[in-house]
Amino acid sequence: MDRYTVIITGASGSAYGFRLVEQLLRAGEVTLIFTRSGADVTAHELGFTVPETAAREAVLRFLDLRGDLPLRVASDDDLFDAVVSGTSTGDATVVAPASMGFVGALSSGVGGGLARRAADVALKERRPLVVVPRETPLSLIHLRSLTALAEAGAIVVPAMPAFYQRPVSIDDMVNFVVGRVLDVLGVEHELYVRWRS
Ligand SMILES: Cc1cc2nc3c(=O)[nH]c(=O)nc-3n(C[C@H](O)[C@H](O)[C@H](O)COP(=O)(O)O)c2cc1C
Repeated sequence: MDRYTVIITGASGSAYGFRLVEQLLRAGEVTLIFTRSGADVTAHELGFTVPETAAREAVLRFLDLRGDLPLRVASDDDLFDAVVSGTSTGDATVVAPASMGFVGALSSGVGGGLARRAADVALKERRPLVVVPRETPLSLIHLRSLTALAEAGAIVVPAMPAFYQRPVSIDDMVNFVVGRVLDVLGVEHELYVRWRS
């Protein structure tokens, strides 16, 4: 079974991370990490407060998913979690949404909590790392940080919904971005109808 790590940081668009967790649970095991700001923005945007205990059950309930699905919610404070071990073989790590704070720290190799360490380990172990940045406009510093991540092997999938699919809801727009992430990971999905198919 494939293993994925999803990191929700403090950029706008927690919905991307949640939809991704929902979809990846159809393909494998998921470890979910919220940064502190990620949890704050999630509470603000989705009305979901990450509880201190039984977080996995709460997330599964919020997503209206079965309670026995292979989801773990790891604490950003727990640097001993197995997900950051160089010898543990997680298949892919996705930062969605990725704040410029997170991108800047990761691109300059500055340590931090479990989330940043997990992304850093993915880079150093040359495992797939997908970064879904959300900020506008982008400063030269943001652009340079994203370039550095791409140079180090990350795949940058900006949170840029397209309009040729004629979205009629926020869900459609979220699905487009998440679908592109799943395409990059090689995970099958039915989040949108493919162009001219
Ligand atoms: C409601 C809200 C929305 C935010 N949206 C963004 C955003 O879209 N992009 C971004 O880079 N930062 C955004 N921020 C700022 C980050 O949350 C902040 O820089 C934070 O320190 C980043 O920490 P992190 O490493 O946990 O992401 C937002 C903050 C709030 C409160």
